[in-house]
Amino acid sequence: MKIFIDSGDIAEIKEAAAMGAIDGVTTNPSLLAKTGKPMRQVITEICQIVDGPISAEVLATDCDGIVSEGRQLAQLHPNVVVKVPLIVEGLKAVRVLASEGVKTNVTLCFSASQALLAAKAGATYISPFVGRLDDLSEDGMQLIEQICAIYSHYDFDTQVLVASVRHPIHVVQSALLGAHVATIPFKVIQQLAQHPMTEAGLKKFLEDSKKIPQG
Ligand code: G3P
Repeated sequence: MKIFIDSGDIAEIKEAAAMGAIDGVTTNPSLLAKTGKPMRQVITEICQIVDGPISAEVLATDCDGIVSEGRQLAQLHPNVVVKVPLIVEGLKAVRVLASEGVKTNVTLCFSASQALLAAKAGATYISPFVGRLDDLSEDGMQLIEQICAIYSHYDFDTQVLVASVRHPIHVVQSALLGAHVATIPFKVIQQLAQHPMTEAGLKKFLEDSKKIPQG
């Protein structure tokens, strides 16, 4: 499973890249608003750090607007993936962008029927939001299971990109289900590496090392 970082924070992205943890980056307007910098500037900076798919979201909500914005974003760098909301106008725009060879990440997916339509439209990635479903007492991972099962029955090229990841269990379950990608906040990437037994074991080894005779 590929791991993307879900962030617009350059320091976080650099640190995750240094860990060898990430294959790509996803952003959204909420994450970019936190940077205080213009969107195109942040996306261009990210493209210099990570050599992989970098999702940048359109703000238009009509087909022509999404296509036009998507074309402009795609011009920023060959690795840019145009993130499009899962609305009817978005699906129409995905179809046009796909026919032009522009990669798309269809976002804000909350149902298997939406994921089916995104694949039919030619989306490169579908982003189901597991954490936000969990927040509503629905089972986000069950949606991933459904989408993976549906896509596996047919000849769709669309990759399942698990989004709105909140904790390491989401990541492990995504990998067990065979999702192609999980996009993960930096905090959760750090949590993936941590285990109290590792920390306790290392502390003991370092303490005991002081008892080794010098020679
Ligand atoms: O980037 C989309 C998604 O990952 C957002 O996550 O935590 O805001 O639900 P969250």
